[in-house]
Amino acid sequence: MPASARDPVRVTFEPEGRTVSVLPGTLLIEAAGKAGIVLETPCGGQGVCGKCRVEINRNAPEPCDADRRLLTKAELDRGTRLACSVHVTQELCVLVPIATRFFEHKILTDGRGRSVALHPTVTKQHVTLPPPALSDQRADADRLLESLGRAKVDLDLGALRTLPTIIRSKDFSVTAVSAEGRLVALEPGDTTAHNYGVAFDIGTTTVVGFLMDLVNGRELAVAARTNPQIPFGDDVVSRIRYATTSPNGLRELQERIVGCLNDIIAECCQTSGIGPEHLYEATVVGNTTMSHLFLGVDPEFIAQAPYVAGFRRSVNVLGRDVGLRIHPHGVVHALPNIAGFVGSDTVGVILAAGMHGADERALAIDIGTNGELVVGNKDRLVTCSTAAGPAFEGARIRFGMRAADGAIDKFIINHDVQFNVIGNLPPRGLCGTAVIDVVAELLRVGAVEATGRLLPPDEMPASVPDPIRRRVVQGEKALEFIIARKEETSTGGALCLTQRDIRELQLAKGAIAAGAAILLKEFGLEPKDLGHVLLAGAFGNFIRRNMAKRIGLLPDVPTDRILYIGNAAGAGARMALQSRRCKEEANRISDCTEYLELAGRADFQQEFTNAMMFPEA
Ligand code: FES
Repeated sequence: MPASARDPVRVTFEPEGRTVSVLPGTLLIEAAGKAGIVLETPCGGQGVCGKCRVEINRNAPEPCDADRRLLTKAELDRGTRLACSVHVTQELCVLVPIATRFFEHKILTDGRGRSVALHPTVTKQHVTLPPPALSDQRADADRLLESLGRAKVDLDLGALRTLPTIIRSKDFSVTAVSAEGRLVALEPGDTTAHNYGVAFDIGTTTVVGFLMDLVNGRELAVAARTNPQIPFGDDVVSRIRYATTSPNGLRELQERIVGCLNDIIAECCQTSGIGPEHLYEATVVGNTTMSHLFLGVDPEFIAQAPYVAGFRRSVNVLGRDVGLRIHPHGVVHALPNIAGFVGSDTVGVILAAGMHGADERALAIDIGTNGELVVGNKDRLVTCSTAAGPAFEGARIRFGMRAADGAIDKFIINHDVQFNVIGNLPPRGLCGTAVIDVVAELLRVGAVEATGRLLPPDEMPASVPDPIRRRVVQGEKALEFIIARKEETSTGGALCLTQRDIRELQLAKGAIAAGAAILLKEFGLEPKDLGHVLLAGAFGNFIRRNMAKRIGLLPDVPTDRILYIGNAAGAGARMALQSRRCKEEANRISDCTEYLELAGRADFQQEFTNAMMFPEA
């Protein structure tokens, strides 16, 4: 008997055999989430990336436009559909292939920052008060302030409420905790040896937190998580869309990211044995959208021309006002942004690398879906953001995936192919670094032209080894290069790089290289004039410099001038936590760094077209 339109329908997910009941009309991707199966959704369920493929054994619905656009005929015939496009209307049995599953990926936590003299915002001062007497009936607050040697200080209500009890709990021995000139808390006895804070780098993909001892500057614990907003899209534009079009979307994204920071705090506290009530300050960097979502500020206009942020300058709020589980009167300092698409993470990179105080001119690049670039030195800094697209994160690449277990992350040609797989498993996909390697190596041996065309075997120069020649085959739409044969993979299918993948890489690297070229032009510089090229962020720190130069992603400078600076944004957040002076420097960086809007440059299209070509051998 057919179910009524309102009766729940059952969906079973294989190979787990997990069954859930959902209301008719529920998206299959939501049903999977209900079953605890998280799928790759780089485009946030917009039907663009094609990564949420599932196989429906029986009763597969008619393919929709997105299915037809992104799936091959053979896939459609065997019931493959995009989970974000299927509305469940009847009982289904769905196979979720391994390549569609979301896996935790490598997270970069280390970053190179300058060492700074400790001068934290939150300070502690221990005093022993003279006990009151009939001859000394000063109020407790007056007694405290006089012992602290301060004529006047703003006393937070929370501190005032606890004052009479706390000063008496250890024979009038008390530690006053101050921040930004306010007395925020009191602790019984002498606790000046314990002053802690936590610094966060909120990335679109990953979130890292560092618990710091602010008495001696030591890092006590570090913890990282995948950004839990990912199911709403891999890139900031998808998240903004969700925040602004979905009822309670902004609140949901804000709660997710704060929940993630609280998890990190809990892990760091457990590792270090320090209670969260002893954390009086948190600093936060992130791209401008992440900063807005963290604070719950509407990010809608960042994504619309003329791309204006809700706020640029640094923001201080109480941790409890955003839901952060630190001391109830602890403060959160969100570092300043620069523009709608250049955020406080870039400020953190400049701060950590010391570009704003250096004589030599450097280029700093943080490669991601949006690449952020900065050129300059102490005299002038100019930054831009360029839309590289998600190819470096494995999206829009036929077998692309994040740098997780089963991803090929290194590739070379040594007569035949050789590759490394994360986790030492049979491969199931390629992460962005491997996409660069494969194309760089195919360029080196002459199997790909500077235009990006993958040559048919009979057009390849004699220098191309036979085993490589034999790996180029005709695919459904164009030539493909077989990286791993079907018997070598964990998916049971061959793993290829397609002609279209090469075009996607050209678009991505062209955007970054064009941004760099325009910034250099702004200064009248050639690549050889750069003292250093600094690679920040997770992706930049895993690419191989020679390979990146070979495809023209990085400027042609001697390789030893290209430095990995790790999670420099996180290092900047740590520095700001350790020193008020660094907070002031960050504000100056934000004020002085010029933002160059590439969309407003007449020469961008030409530079982009030039940069899409690969360098001649
Ligand atoms: S196509 Fe479904 S998540 Fe991108």
